[in-house]
This record gives sequence, structure tokens and C-alpha cells, in this order.
Amino acid sequence: AELKLWGGRFTGATDPLMNLYNASLPYDKKMYAADIEGTRVYTAGLAKIGLLNEHELSEIHRGLALLLEEWKSGSFVEKDGDEDIHTANERRLGEIIGRDISGKVHTGRSRNDQVATDMRIYVREELGAIRDLLTDFISVIINRGEREIEFLMPGYTHLQRAQPIRWAHWLSSYATYFTEDIKRLDQIIERINVSPLGCGALAGHPFGIDRQFLSDELKFNGMIGNSLVGVGDRDFIVESLYWVSLFMTHISRFSEDLILYSTAEFGFIKLADAYSTGSSLMPQKKNADSLELLRGKSGRVFGNLTGFMMSLKGTPSSYNKDLQEDKEALFDSLTTVSHSIQIATGVISTLTVNDAKMKAALTMDMLATDLADYLVRKGVPFRETHHISGEAVRLAEELNLSGIDQLTLQQYKDIDERFNEDVHDTFNFEQSVERRTAVGGTAKSAILLQYDNLRSIIAKK
Ligand code: ARG
Repeated sequence: AELKLWGGRFTGATDPLMNLYNASLPYDKKMYAADIEGTRVYTAGLAKIGLLNEHELSEIHRGLALLLEEWKSGSFVEKDGDEDIHTANERRLGEIIGRDISGKVHTGRSRNDQVATDMRIYVREELGAIRDLLTDFISVIINRGEREIEFLMPGYTHLQRAQPIRWAHWLSSYATYFTEDIKRLDQIIERINVSPLGCGALAGHPFGIDRQFLSDELKFNGMIGNSLVGVGDRDFIVESLYWVSLFMTHISRFSEDLILYSTAEFGFIKLADAYSTGSSLMPQKKNADSLELLRGKSGRVFGNLTGFMMSLKGTPSSYNKDLQEDKEALFDSLTTVSHSIQIATGVISTLTVNDAKMKAALTMDMLATDLADYLVRKGVPFRETHHISGEAVRLAEELNLSGIDQLTLQQYKDIDERFNEDVHDTFNFEQSVERRTAVGGTAKSAILLQYDNLRSIIAKK
């Protein structure tokens, strides 16, 4: 008969479907290294308080090293009864070093503090790797912006043409969102990185384990101060899922912009073949599938967040098996976000920009604000100039002119005496963007300053 680690008080066999239903090994085995590292340090802690002698500890550490190699080389053999990564590793360690010694490993420890420890180690590492991908992505965006700083395009509000901006400014806007994501990620990693090890099943450790030692050895920043929280807290999972969700919100908006810009109607950008697909029916089609998937996958990660919060909200104190539901949600979100960042990096580094089309989409009415500002510079209150500029727009429309730049000086003077010959200097897109030098604006100098700031934020860790 199969031997279960908790088998002592159970006599009946488990329903086979229940075994499958209960098992988390198929997905939690990816935490094998964290689990082994946790046990390596925990047993050092046991030795420190005299619960393992030197020989036993070195045997355990030798066995754990072999176990790690088996996982790494793919030679680990799963067996019936391996419920999760913790039971699988303990079972195999017993086979390697003998049960007399391996049977002492779990003294004072529960899978409850063990899994919480493993997850925190695993998640902080995964989020660290995601952070690296994200800094690459931001660098690619910024580098592109610097190279294409001259390109002008329409800026939109309500998806209506509003004012001219630099393409590099649009790029910088997303680099800013993604940099905020990095700041937020650093804060979350900080909160994840606290040690639950030594909390036992729920009530604490009965042999006075040195939790500070365990925490230091596992490179945590500190210890969770209450054992019920140590085993029962999954807020760090919720925060990670939320982080992915908000990041994917940003990626989704970024993608939506680019999908629009890649249509024939806009024609601002063209996606590389590497990130597009064709239609099985319409030979002319080139679809922005990469961007649509980035937008679409955001929905699934929101589901992971809300789904796990629903699982968590009804659980009583400390550990309940519901908490095992954290894994599939989180692992899926982590994989999705990691792939998404890499795809988005590929898309943005390979697309081509049609700056002539961007420029052609600029229309003179987008300088109506600049026209109002022209009179402001002559001392007229803005509310008045706004009205006057509006009249110019209306008159140009009435006369069927191509834009407000086509009105003659006389026509301007008829609208308002304070217009002079220099009014026609206003109708210059380049000048319009270059006036916006204040911090955060679309003038070249202001954008380059944004890039400097973003670079210095992502550089520090
Ligand atoms: N596989 C479990 C999980 O992921 C490990 C903890 C099991 N603890 C227990 N008391 N059954 O949450």
C-alpha cells in the first residue's frame, strides 16, 4: 500500500479522484529548489538547537544536494503518494539517506510554514526576473524615443486630434507607466521577503528554533511576527496578482494605441512580420495578433486576481487547504506577464514608424490653442483668447478653407484688432511642441529629461 506521510491515523484508502484533486505536485514542483533550500536552512537551525548532530546534518545536506541534482537533470522520479513538492522531496530524501535520519528533518516544522516559506522564496525570485525583463523593455522604449525624437504626431484626447506631440513623448508616457510598475514591484518584493519559517503548523515552534538565523540564512529581511499570520497569510500572493493585473492594464492600453496606429486609417506604424499573422481566407491581411493577445491576456490575469481573492476571503484563521489555490493562479499570471513583456519588447523594437504619415495627420486646427496662446503673449486674458481663436476656426470652416493658417491678416484683424503680421508664425507644429518645455512636456529638452529620470529610477535596485 502507498505510504502517506500523514498516514498514521487513516485506515481507509483515499478516493482516487480525491488524490488527484488534492495533489499539487503537478504544478508546485517548479518550486523544488526553494523547497530544498528551505529544508537545508531549517535543518541547520535544528542542528543549532541540538536536535540534529553533526553527522545527521551533513548526511541531510549531502542528500539534499543529490536531490537537487535529480530535479535539475530531470531524473527525479515521481511516485504515487507524492502529494506535493514537500512530501515528494521528503520521501526521496529518505530513500537517499535512509529514513532514520530523514525522519528528523520535519521536527517542529509543518508543511504550513514550509509552503509559505517556499512560496515567498520562489515569488521573490520570479518577480526579480520579471523586473529585469521590464528594465530591458523600458530601455528599448527609451532608446527608440531618443533615435526618433524628431518625429511629430497628433496627440489625442477622447481619441480626437488634440495637439501635436512628439512620438518620443508617446513612448515616454508608457515608459513612465512601466517605471511606476517597477517602483511598485520593488515595494511588493520588500513585503514578500519576510520569513514565516519556524511558525510551525500555526502555534509556533516548540523547541525554540532561532527564527532570526533561519531568516538571515534564507536572505529574508525579517520575520513574520505572528505564527497564525506566518502560515495563513497570502496577501503577498494577492499583491503579486494585483501587480501583474495593473501592469497588464498598462500593456493593454499600450497595445490598444499601437493596434489603432497600425491600421490603414492611421498608418503610423507597421508591425514586423515576426509579430503579425495573416488570415486563412483574406490574402491581403496582416493582423496585429501580438498586440491583440497582449490586450486579451490581461483579462485572464484579472481573473486570477479576483478568483484567488474569492478563495481567500472565506477562509478562517491560519492554514486551510483553500490556500493551495494560490499556486495555479499565480504561476499562470507570472508566466503570462513574463511572456508578455518579452513579446512587447520584441514588438516595439521591430516595428517601423511612418513619420511622414504621422506628420500628415497633423491638422492646423490642432494649433487653435497655440493661436489663443499667441494673444495671451500679447496680454489678452486666456478666456477671451480662447473665444477669439474659436471664431477663427469657425470662420475658416465657413469659408471652406483648409485651415486657420489660410485666413489673411485682414481677416484676423477683423476678428480682433490685436492680431499682427506675426500671427502666421503660429502655424508651425515644430514650434508648438518646442514651446512645451516645462517639466513633463513634449519639447525635446523636456522629453530627454524624462528619459534621464526614468533611467535613473530603473537603474537603482
Ligand atoms: N500543497 C500544500 C499547499 O500548497 C502544502 C501545505 C499543505 N498543508 C497541509 N496542512 N495540508 O498549500
